Amino acid sequence: MAEPEKILVAVAWPYANGPRHIGHVAGYGVPSDVFARFQRLRGNQVLMVSGTDEHGTPITYGADRERISPREFADRNNAIIVEDQLALGLSYDCFTRTTTRNHYRVVQDLFKTLHDKGYIVERTQLGAISPSTGRTLPDRYIQGTCPICGYPEARGDQCDNCGNQLDPVDLIEPRSRINGEVPVFRETEQLFFELPAFAEQLQDWISRQTHWRPNVRAYSLNYIAELKPRAITRDLDWGVPVPLPGWGERPDKRIYVWFDAVIGYLSASIEWARNRRMPEAWREWWQDPAARHFYFMGKDNITFHTVMWPSILFGVGGLDLPYDVVASEFLNMEGRQFSTSRGHVILVRDFLSRYDADALRYYLIAAGPENQDSDFTWAEFVRRNNDELVGTWGNLVHRTLVNAYRNFGAVPQPGELTERDTRLLSQVEAGFDSVAALLGTARFKASLSEAMRLAALVNQYLAEEQPWHQIKQDRERAGTTLFVALRAVDSLKVMMTPVLPFSSQRLHEMLGYRDVIAPQAEVREYEEEGGDRHRVQGNEYDSSPRWFPSALVPGTPLSEPRALFKKIDPEVVEEEIRRMGGD
Ligand code: MF3
Ligand code: ZN
Repeated sequence: MAEPEKILVAVAWPYANGPRHIGHVAGYGVPSDVFARFQRLRGNQVLMVSGTDEHGTPITYGADRERISPREFADRNNAIIVEDQLALGLSYDCFTRTTTRNHYRVVQDLFKTLHDKGYIVERTQLGAISPSTGRTLPDRYIQGTCPICGYPEARGDQCDNCGNQLDPVDLIEPRSRINGEVPVFRETEQLFFELPAFAEQLQDWISRQTHWRPNVRAYSLNYIAELKPRAITRDLDWGVPVPLPGWGERPDKRIYVWFDAVIGYLSASIEWARNRRMPEAWREWWQDPAARHFYFMGKDNITFHTVMWPSILFGVGGLDLPYDVVASEFLNMEGRQFSTSRGHVILVRDFLSRYDADALRYYLIAAGPENQDSDFTWAEFVRRNNDELVGTWGNLVHRTLVNAYRNFGAVPQPGELTERDTRLLSQVEAGFDSVAALLGTARFKASLSEAMRLAALVNQYLAEEQPWHQIKQDRERAGTTLFVALRAVDSLKVMMTPVLPFSSQRLHEMLGYRDVIAPQAEVREYEEEGGDRHRVQGNEYDSSPRWFPSALVPGTPLSEPRALFKKIDPEVVEEEIRRMGGD
């Protein structure tokens, strides 16, 4: 076994603006968890961090709509999001929030360091004002035509069509999204991050990242061809105060939400270490160049992670850069974009009130938007559940365990293995390399197909050997066949665990194990700096290596098998489509 590696699994921070829908968790949630679980099974030391992103206009917008304060709004949504993530089995080490004192302090420290080094400078900019109220109109509240791609509904901060970051002044025919009026632009002073100072370093570094998904690298290289200084403060009263004299006291100036959020990866690692009472432990993940950092997000987040965050890290110095930036594409639903406001949406909690988390996780990995936009349809969900999850893997587990349990009650003592038996076992065991090679490089879909291909081989073996007939003539041969099948199932269980943690844990117990192969997170309360209590989604996970072939011992008692998965009645397809409603 190789030396354990330190792996940082850095998952995009969801805005605390509402419950999660399955489009959200398809992009960053499930893939990052599959990756983290896999790395732990290999025996690597994983630190998986994230939290709710609680500043910026997505939060003030939602709070205004509900007529509550941003803080109340964020509190409520943080709790809801944590609940959704627990139900889905996401195994964060530390899922915190951007409104902690610790986060504020780390953000302000980095901000000051960059300022001291001359990378942050003051300039004036044209800021949008609403003529009817006289108040500043945040970027996201402005809409107009994108100057780069011509998309007519670009927002002042970003164009959702071409993905470029924008400034409101760049928009053609800008108007307020609140009341349609044309904003007036007035000079306002802001602090700018000198991105062009890092152009050469970025170019050099990104060019060398040939292991990134091709679109991530190409998109980032294209983006840095024209780097401009970026305003990292906003005219807003909700956010991290600017830690500079003359700025900190001002109630109308705050640090830009994206600048504070990306720093969350570091601040959450620091918080994790403090919560574990090993305050320096974060350094092993951030200051050892051998640690590898994997970032997970949707494609609209790419440049923040490949350009802005690395520039902060270059500027500050002494902290590890991303190793991989795993960006997914978008998930649509029944042919259209998810839209919470139009009701064209499936919330994670609604989904999980009727179907199992593993069924959803299976679908999102098998048919999710890993390399291209993909479509969630109920028909395809039911088909994959019934034909693949139940039909191939569930069926294999079921017939193996039922036959072994009924006839032997324990793992049978095998006779001599035939050439066919050893061939099957070596085919399955080769999966520990082939599946690992795919999972370790974030090719989730292919890794799952590979594991399912191996499950199909075992089904084929059972169909040929027919232990349920063998038992009538030759009990020892039946025992050998079932022993081989049990070992194959036990090995495949390990390979399935990252994608199917809940059912794999149950299978693990049916096979006679007493320990935990698929741990789950929980909510824990910690005392924050300054004494406030604060809730974190996390746990301490075992990372002893388990990624190796089954050594299931003959004679181990089996427990009564229960079905791992449920077949879904195809009738639900129409029912679900009706229930979704929307316009
Ligand atoms: N909240 C952002 C979004 O939902 C993602 C922030 S990721 C982080 O698009 F890097 F900034 F943390
Ligand atoms: Zn555009």
